[in-house]
Amino acid sequence: MSKWLDNAIFYEIYPQSFNDTNADGIGDFHGIIEKLDYIKELGCNAIWINPCFLSPFGDAGYDVADYCRVAPRYGTNEDLKQVFEEAHKRNMHVLLDLVPGHTSVEHSWFKESMKAEKNEFTDRYIWTNSIWESPEGMASLRGISDRDGSCAINFFSHQPALNYGFYQPDPEKPWQQSFDDKGPQATLAAMEDVMRFWLNMGCDGFRVDMAGSLVKNDPEGKGTIRLWQQVRKFLDAEFPDAAMVSEWGEPDKSLLGGFHMDFLLHFGPSHYNDLFRCDEPFFSKRGKGDISAFVETYKKNYEKTARKGLICIPSGNHDMDRLSRRLQCDELKIAFAFLLSMPGAPFIYYGDEIGMRYVESLKSVEGGYNRTGSRSPMQWDDSTNAGFSTAPSNDLYIPMDPNKNRPTAKASIENPDSLYHEIKKLIQIRQSHESLKSRGTIEFVYAKKDQYPLAYLRESENEKILVVINPSAQAQSFDYNCTFKETIYSFGGEANAENQIVTIPGQSVGFYRI
Ligand code: GLC
Ligand code: CA
Repeated sequence: MSKWLDNAIFYEIYPQSFNDTNADGIGDFHGIIEKLDYIKELGCNAIWINPCFLSPFGDAGYDVADYCRVAPRYGTNEDLKQVFEEAHKRNMHVLLDLVPGHTSVEHSWFKESMKAEKNEFTDRYIWTNSIWESPEGMASLRGISDRDGSCAINFFSHQPALNYGFYQPDPEKPWQQSFDDKGPQATLAAMEDVMRFWLNMGCDGFRVDMAGSLVKNDPEGKGTIRLWQQVRKFLDAEFPDAAMVSEWGEPDKSLLGGFHMDFLLHFGPSHYNDLFRCDEPFFSKRGKGDISAFVETYKKNYEKTARKGLICIPSGNHDMDRLSRRLQCDELKIAFAFLLSMPGAPFIYYGDEIGMRYVESLKSVEGGYNRTGSRSPMQWDDSTNAGFSTAPSNDLYIPMDPNKNRPTAKASIENPDSLYHEIKKLIQIRQSHESLKSRGTIEFVYAKKDQYPLAYLRESENEKILVVINPSAQAQSFDYNCTFKETIYSFGGEANAENQIVTIPGQSVGFYRI
């Protein structure tokens, strides 16, 4: 079991936009190496790199053309190996992004599978037996080659779905295979080879893209869980320390499949958006938000997964609005006090630590569409292109945030009151208290409908910490019988516990040992 995950604090790197060292306007592996110390200094000890493999980049690299070769724009396989080595030298770990559900249409597997003649890759993707028949319930690619059939797609139209079979194949549709059949099993074996390839090279595990939708017609995920259990056996035997984190959004299923941690997603049933990304987010100082539905769902998932693995609440990612689109200044600090005091390994999306903005009205880049605004280049300092690249600004992968007051890492480091320093402090506090770490237990003390504040107890063998968070501008209180023995962290003013009532000032947070 990957023990390191228990103390991991992740930093997500969108490689295109992080740091360009050869002036072509696109971030690269050397750029990541150059900034490992910056990430470490913030307190993060692990990184997740978005897909960096050969790709036509119709979906920013989530359309892989060769799983075992990096895209030349980032460097070579050797350079990526160096990223692993340099990270390990600093006691940091690296997750790559595995995209097992689909490939690009340019993948050699797909080119072979398009052929009318039967070959090794005929069953690698989901093809119907006739061009006139569409795969029910799925969009498809049709009329693209001599092969008589329609090929199911997974996401964009250029991302054909790899064939992991159907949970209950329809006997009337002979092209629907079972996940135990030869074709789907060969696909899984090929994906295990990909994992083996990178793990042997030194990567520490994977964030797995769309992990919950491999097997089709599988509404309860039973077939997909079975496949991941198979992968778990392979990993236990060959790479027991590899960490597996899923983009699934249903921790009861993914952890059963053998993942160590699952992300809460900005879509689906988690109510994650109620926190930071809706008209009245809970973390806004307007105080009109509601965290109760989020907490109810979280509690259910937590009970179902207790001690089996972790649930991760990310600060954001390359698919959603920047945290700072709806929250500002102290609101962001308070949001991070929550993110960094919850169980499960925290994930910080690059730039969120300095409050980088969502850049409005950008032209879509590489299938980003509205996501493009969250993918603009990292702002390092006040030099050309904010220190991201020395290329002419027209050559940048995505234009810089044009705002004159855009935050930078340099200014944030120089200002002791910055969001950056608050996050750094919160990470240090988390890492020095067992109860606040990923596996400390949580019990919600106060999380009422349409009410503030939010309070929860984090507990380990020797310690109980009460976390009280009040994003609203007004002081708030709730009934709770306890004595504060020590203030471990406070921001915006101290709460107090008297006569069985806890009172907390407006826009403040406190962690108290009780
Ligand atoms: C995931 C990725 C997203 C990508 C999609 C298709 O949701 O995070 O960026 O477009 O899968 O692979
Ligand atoms: Ca570059």
